[in-house]
Amino acid sequence: MSPQEAARLLHEGKLIVFPTETVYGLGALASNKKAVRKVFDVKGRPSHNPLILHIANPHQLDELVLDIPESAHRLMKAFWPGPLTICFRKSNIVSDEVTAGLPSVCVRTPDHPLAHEFLKNVGEAVAAPSANLSGKPSTTSFEDAKLQLGNKGVEFLDGGLTLIGLESTVVDCSQQGVVKLLRPGSVSVTDLESVLGEKILDETKNEQVTSPGQLLRHYAPKGELLVIVGNLQQRQRWLDRLSEDQKFSWAFGIVGKVNNAHLYSHLSVLSQSEEDMSMYASRLYSFLNWCDQIQAKHIVLSFPEKNHPLSATLMNRLEKASQGNIISLGGTFS
Ligand code: TXA
Ligand code: MG
Repeated sequence: MSPQEAARLLHEGKLIVFPTETVYGLGALASNKKAVRKVFDVKGRPSHNPLILHIANPHQLDELVLDIPESAHRLMKAFWPGPLTICFRKSNIVSDEVTAGLPSVCVRTPDHPLAHEFLKNVGEAVAAPSANLSGKPSTTSFEDAKLQLGNKGVEFLDGGLTLIGLESTVVDCSQQGVVKLLRPGSVSVTDLESVLGEKILDETKNEQVTSPGQLLRHYAPKGELLVIVGNLQQRQRWLDRLSEDQKFSWAFGIVGKVNNAHLYSHLSVLSQSEEDMSMYASRLYSFLNWCDQIQAKHIVLSFPEKNHPLSATLMNRLEKASQGNIISLGGTFS
């Protein structure tokens, strides 16, 4: 399907799965309340969890929001188009269906040629959560999106693999004088603070979470996921031991070199090197989706102890996906 055809179908009330640079999205025309409600039905998403608006061009923001604070101007200039979602005070044009009744609305401009063509042809905002069933791993390929949502009566725009593989960073600029981090992503706190010239408030570890979606069990495969964190030797020792008494229903996601690869029933190398955690990030969800396809009952994911700019974001996703089932082999990880 072409992006023009997808845009036409969207205007007819259809839902469209489309690629972005982060993960695939499940889009509805934001001005069509019935279509937006259908997004919640299709995903099985709780109605209190608001959707992000996607636009082709920052100029489209003007009618969606009450004001654009200076902080948001700076962030848009530095990071749009790109994997940064910004929360504003919403205008009356944006329905309660999109924002789950909140007075704020989150908006982003994806940096992906097909997403851009699609959104440009739509000509107005597209409300889209990640294209997965609620609680399940996000999808980073057309095939994975189709496996989760193929029987839901939605249409698909095939954009191959997404580049980043982790959902956008979400920041809240809707309150005066303060910028808050609601969800970590590939745009890091350091990136944000250097553009703003001031500290931002990290709300992601608060008990009182301000971003409703962050409360839920998320990104989780069906099998029990264990994350082991350590250096290469520590991880290898564990894997050697586990590979001895593994069953066929086990799956292993590895970073770095692995000894005796032939001994593992199901093995996937997420990244060849601890330095390349971007590769790990881009393959994480396809690994978790693959685990569901092969019906893995036990999943072991190894994670380097060494700090990397993406470590905190990856850990945020892994904590939710494993429900905190994380072992520090060196004892230094917290
Ligand atoms: O990279 C992404 O952001 C992907 C692609 C498709 O753009 N989208 C995505 O959407 O991850 P979703 O719905 O899976 O996650 C959006 C997050 C949720 O945690 C939601 O609670 C939060 O953003 N959110 C949306 N609107 C909000 C609002 N007005 N205030 C606070 N949090 C909001
Ligand atoms: Mg999601």
